[in-house]
Amino acid sequence: MKIINVVGARPNFMKMAPLIEAMRAYPGIRSVLVHTGQHYDTNMSKLFFEDLALPTPDICLEVGSGSHAEQTARVMVEFEKVLLQERPDLTVVVGDVNSTLACALTSVKLGVPVAHVEAGLRSYDRTMPEEINRILTDAISAYLFTTEKDAETNLLKEGIPSERVFFVGNVMIDSLLRHLKKAENSTVLADLNVVPRGYALLTLHRPSNVDDKANFVKVLSAVAHIQERLPIVYPVHPRTRNKIAEFRLEDRYPFLANGSRSLRMVEPQGYLDFLRLMRNARLVLTDSGGIQEETTVLGVPCITMRESTERPITVNEGTNVLVGTDTASIVREAMLVLDGHAKKGRVPELWDGNAAERIVRVLAEKFDLARAAS
Ligand code: UD1
Repeated sequence: MKIINVVGARPNFMKMAPLIEAMRAYPGIRSVLVHTGQHYDTNMSKLFFEDLALPTPDICLEVGSGSHAEQTARVMVEFEKVLLQERPDLTVVVGDVNSTLACALTSVKLGVPVAHVEAGLRSYDRTMPEEINRILTDAISAYLFTTEKDAETNLLKEGIPSERVFFVGNVMIDSLLRHLKKAENSTVLADLNVVPRGYALLTLHRPSNVDDKANFVKVLSAVAHIQERLPIVYPVHPRTRNKIAEFRLEDRYPFLANGSRSLRMVEPQGYLDFLRLMRNARLVLTDSGGIQEETTVLGVPCITMRESTERPITVNEGTNVLVGTDTASIVREAMLVLDGHAKKGRVPELWDGNAAERIVRVLAEKFDLARAAS
């Protein structure tokens, strides 16, 4: 059985690594790793291959950045050539980035079934590009692997037959649990001159927050407040760095020019360094999707600066609090944490480090049956 495994952007790499590892246990599976090149900087891609010991991609599409249409279309055109040449039995896509949808769509049109890992998550906010990618990828996938029970409910509401849906747990947490120990060797805390629980960790890159100047300013005003109380480590996503320059925000917030003692602006971090930073933070402030889940497992308080989340379990069971982008709300929630009133949580069901094995077991069973019947 030949499987094409697709990665494209930073949040894909830690989801794919355990899947490839689990596939190795089945001698009948031949895995071909395709990197679309949606993310291409060393910090956004290469470092992750090293930290996660991912194999070098067999095929690189090198599509790079562009508008949504350009990027998605370029992936489709290039990926179609790969499918025609490789003729796989299955394409595996993870997450919700443009590469996920582009490769899923190209596959089904050529009659190659798709397995979607991390299916069924819904923010119910269709202005989020990822929400469109999630809905469409799920609609055309043959095997939908979910991380939480709500995801299955969402899928069934959209008319997806329950036989296609498998609740297996969270592959991103597989990676997290596997790398925690190794991350302790990272020197990032000393390098940045911070101590465990002595800093907050900030990430910010969602278009609704950083492409919209008014929203960006609201969030930055909160950051300016919080850093007076606790130093903040801030790895800056390239999209956000571009927007800071475009909106000339350094004029209004001088600390954005090159950071300050209380706001350490750094390049995007590798997987292990970021894991160490997250695990030892007093508080995480983010608009990311995956970080809401990782902090829940690490038991670190997470303040999510978004109006909605596609990962409600992190709020219902985990350490996540959804505060929106109102300056006062963000500051209020951060102060609650700093005053010792952080939300406690528990680790969700099946987030136990074995999701990838469950997924590959399902696939192996399905394909044996399919082969026997034909
Ligand atoms: C993408 C995903 C988002 C994910 C995020 C994680 C989509 C729709 N969005 O958003 O879900 O949370 O990745 O990082 O797929 N850039 C670089 N170097 C890179 C990559 C990007 O400089 O290696 C810059 C480019 O200017 C680019 C911009 O960042 O135009 C945005 O990159 P893009 O891949 O379009 O979206 P992200 O914001 O990274």
